[in-house]
Amino acid sequence: MLSKLRLLDFKVFTDQEFIIKPGSTAIVGPNGSGKTSILEAIEFALFRQVTRKEKKIPKVEDLIQHGKKRAIIELDFKAPINRRTYRVRRSIHPGETNADLFEEAEKEPFASGATKVDEEIRKLVGMDRHAFSALTYVRQGEIDRLSRMTPKTRRGDLYSMMGLGLYEKTSDRTQKEIREIKKQIDSIDQTRSRLDSIKNHLPSHKEIADALIAIEKLLKVSEQSKDLTIIQEVLQKVETSLFEVQNQLDSPEMTLELDELKRVSDTAKYLKTVLETIPDIAEAQLRPHIRTEAREIFTSIFGDRYSDLIIDDDYEVSLYDLRGNRVSLSAASGGEDVCVNFALRVAVNTALQKHSVIGPPPGLIILDEPGAGLDTQRRMWLPSAIAGLKSVEQVIVVTHMEEMRDSAERVISLTPQGKDRQPLVAEIE
Ligand SMILES: Nc1ncnc2c1ncn2[C@@H]1O[C@H](COP(=O)(O)OP(=O)(O)OP(=O)(O)O)[C@@H](O)[C@H]1O
Ligand SMILES: [Mg+2]
Repeated sequence: MLSKLRLLDFKVFTDQEFIIKPGSTAIVGPNGSGKTSILEAIEFALFRQVTRKEKKIPKVEDLIQHGKKRAIIELDFKAPINRRTYRVRRSIHPGETNADLFEEAEKEPFASGATKVDEEIRKLVGMDRHAFSALTYVRQGEIDRLSRMTPKTRRGDLYSMMGLGLYEKTSDRTQKEIREIKKQIDSIDQTRSRLDSIKNHLPSHKEIADALIAIEKLLKVSEQSKDLTIIQEVLQKVETSLFEVQNQLDSPEMTLELDELKRVSDTAKYLKTVLETIPDIAEAQLRPHIRTEAREIFTSIFGDRYSDLIIDDDYEVSLYDLRGNRVSLSAASGGEDVCVNFALRVAVNTALQKHSVIGPPPGLIILDEPGAGLDTQRRMWLPSAIAGLKSVEQVIVVTHMEEMRDSAERVISLTPQGKDRQPLVAEIE
């Protein structure tokens, strides 16, 4: 799904281009050579964020190469929804970022400005930044993230991985809309009751008319006509007010608009219920597939220790040893955690690929040091498991594992040179 990355003054990279092909790519190199930086550049290009494990998230300025004024990242990617190629270009300046999004071969961007580009990319890639960091990009030291969370957050993350977070967000927005409409209805209701009470305090048309007739008669006979004229004028003003109040009460805002607002509010409430139901239906459809896939992957790696992996309806994950004893995830070893997580992520990807009701998954998995903590036997398994990932078009693995070099289809190797440690990049097929 990614095809080319170009970095200018981005962290250690002064001017570097990477060609990224389908299949598996291993990125290798010593500590601090810029491996994770490449992944951060990809995340920033797509989602304008850089997430790190339990570390302070860097300020965007920190991504600009020391001593330089700005950084530029360009990423070419194929959108899963229409298989067309796009180029996103983001520049980072102290305190601000800019972005342009181009269709392949077009010179003029079709979207400009960070927020607009974020929105377009979310549509093209079919997921938001949260889903990307939950499903696609496994950060250094975070492969066991799914095991460490409570079932409730795990469920939330898996929802996000399945692209269902979007419905929740829309449902939240609808809720806000409903609240706004209620405010408007309330304010119209208030005005109406205020007008009603004014009307009740005013004399009726008949009372005013009678009084005016009486005054006219009096005027003909009375000597103190001046006072009577004043009363007559006041009564005429009261009559005008009474007409105005009645007109306002009869106005379209008080009747038609109120009806319309109530109708919109009912529709919005209905929409909200539907939006809340979609994720549950979609998830219920995917759940059995996720369970089967995760179980198959896990037992194929840990068949010598475990007989089963069960995911229950609340997303509590349990392992069963060879004697059939239940082992909770919290009791599992670090290496086992790694495999459960790998199995879950791949299972979600595979299930989405085969049975998604909401569009294809991104077809990309990025793993930063997934092998940390694995014993020799499992280390041998990981490269072949990655190489065998049929459901994922593109896998990018940052690794120090020698085994991975041999099993990946392509290797990008970084070798720091000289004082400024500018990496020499070699791409080996
Ligand atoms: N703004 C910057 N300008 C230049 N160099 C930077 C900047 N920010 C960080 N660096 C350097 O970039 C390197 C970070 O590299 P990165 O995290 O990509 O390494 P890595 O290859 O993933 O290493 P490891 O194997 O230890 O995870 C560090 O050496 C750091 O000092
Ligand atoms: Mg790193």
